[in-house]
Amino acid sequence: MDLRASLDGISPAQLGGFFGGWPNPPTPATLYRLLAGAPYLALAVEDGEVIGFVYAISDGVLCAYIPLLEVRPAWRGRGVASALMRSLLEGLDGLYMVDTACDEDLVPFYERFGLRRGAAMVRRDYARQAGRPESG
Ligand SMILES: CC(C)(COP(=O)(O)OP(=O)(O)OC[C@H]1O[C@@H](n2cnc3c(N)ncnc32)[C@H](O)[C@@H]1OP(=O)(O)O)[C@@H](O)C(=O)NCCC(=O)NCCS
Repeated sequence: MDLRASLDGISPAQLGGFFGGWPNPPTPATLYRLLAGAPYLALAVEDGEVIGFVYAISDGVLCAYIPLLEVRPAWRGRGVASALMRSLLEGLDGLYMVDTACDEDLVPFYERFGLRRGAAMVRRDYARQAGRPESG
């Protein structure tokens, strides 16, 4: 497995197989767009396919937020997400706040990386689960 910190050499066709269980998932092309807009990311690549990703959005000064972390089902349970988190957090070193929101069962996973439990407020517009259309 190859860990990468950029989309260089990656195309949308290599980004399939994610968002399992989402009723209205983003397409691989949309996943490419959102990763392209993220200042920090980590990709796990195996045989030319992206098998896991995580990214952060950030103001580059104080704060970063990790919206999504996912490993393709066939690759779970082998430490891929842990490797992705370590790689991403290296890039976020020096920032004051690094936040994410997660389900209760993943609290122990994130605690391993120095994050601690806090309250999150969230809003979801399910009509936009596949992403906001490109403007223009
Ligand atoms: C959560 C997820 C990214 C973990 O990926 P992974 O590559 O299997 O994780 P790792 O192999 O690095 O696992 C690290 C540890 O976390 C634990 N863990 C992983 N997923 C877990 C889950 N859903 N619930 C509880 N513990 C979990 C593993 O048991 C493992 O513990 P161990 O080292 O004692 O065996 C993956 O299951 C996934 O993509 N799930 C769907 C998307 C999702 O829920 N993303 C998180 C958004 S907050």
